[in-house]
Amino acid sequence: MSASLFSPLRLREVELSNRVVVAPMCQYMAQDGVPQDWHLVHLGQYAQSNFGLIIAEATGVSPEGRITPGCTGLYSDAAEAAFARIISFARSVGNSMMGVQLSHAGRKASTATPWDGAGTLVDGAWQTVAPSNVPYLPGWPEPTALDATGMAQIKADFVAATRRAARAGFDLVELHAAHGYLLHEFLSPITNQRTDAYGGSLENRMRFVLEIFEAVRAEFPAERPVILRLSATDWIEGGWHVADAVILSRELAALGCDMIHVSSGGLDQRQQIVPGAGYQVAFSQAIRAEADIPTIAVGQITQAIQAETILRTGQADAIALARGALWNPRWAWHAAAELGQEVTMPAPYARCNPALRGKPFVTRKALK
Ligand SMILES: Cc1cc2nc3c(=O)[nH]c(=O)nc-3n(C[C@H](O)[C@H](O)[C@H](O)COP(=O)(O)O)c2cc1C
Repeated sequence: MSASLFSPLRLREVELSNRVVVAPMCQYMAQDGVPQDWHLVHLGQYAQSNFGLIIAEATGVSPEGRITPGCTGLYSDAAEAAFARIISFARSVGNSMMGVQLSHAGRKASTATPWDGAGTLVDGAWQTVAPSNVPYLPGWPEPTALDATGMAQIKADFVAATRRAARAGFDLVELHAAHGYLLHEFLSPITNQRTDAYGGSLENRMRFVLEIFEAVRAEFPAERPVILRLSATDWIEGGWHVADAVILSRELAALGCDMIHVSSGGLDQRQQIVPGAGYQVAFSQAIRAEADIPTIAVGQITQAIQAETILRTGQADAIALARGALWNPRWAWHAAAELGQEVTMPAPYARCNPALRGKPFVTRKALK
């Protein structure tokens, strides 16, 4: 019987060979925004492992849009070339489609790596920007509230990074509107205290995100998908909620958004997250059903049968793994074997395929 998880998913002219996605994961290993050999190996291992779609980490659209100085950024020729090399490697070993998450970190920019405490930078800090001048945590530097010029610059940066993503060969662009970064900060009433056309009502708070989406969609080749990752809820009373996320998703669908990648939280540390297996899947289900748009479910999805059930019960069109993919980079192979599907692997690794167990190690051809 064929598994939903290993059925193809077509988005515009791009076809994922299966519905297992590697979620974007910051590595903090870039230099001046340029991905390094670390990224080639990190992303390349997932291409060897036949994940349907691999989304490269939150990648700043400008140096100031990066979360940390170690984050990737698509604002230089060097970064574009380095990503092109990674994509070329992925193409040479399998069928994985390659995506990149374009991001501006807003008031959560200019911070240290997690292993250095993730606090606000002391050396090499830069001025952060946000919809309003409210810091992320007490004692953090105040972000500058963006004016019209600043917003126009950020939109131009998203468009320029999209152009680079297309030239580098990415199959898909994901806009990062989750986890308390700039676009999410515009959406949530907790971080958006503006009194102009970009603040106040839900319609106003969605405006900048929709404008950026439209500009990016117009720049990326029409045959390749643009998707958006959002936080479906802030997990805070009076914050952004799933009902808002449904309305935003409807608007995005109308603008040609191909899929919503449904995450949650990250805006404010007062959040009351209720974690657990598949803890965000219900949000994906609500958005898929009520906004009539394909979704990726993510968050503590670790088991093949769990992933298959999410798809079969119509809760999502694809599932993504972050920590599960770090823990087991061969997750897609193992899930295929567990669900009785053919395991697809590059030729030099084929001997480990359980389907070949017990067969002769090498079958040599006789000369005629
Ligand atoms: C090391 C690491 C880095 C992450 N970096 C990003 C990122 O760049 N962009 C993003 O949207 N989410 C990021 N996340 C969140 C994951 O994409 C994912 O949504 C979250 O970890 C829940 O999925 P999981 O339970 O499969 O790990 C990161 C998570 C981890 C573990």
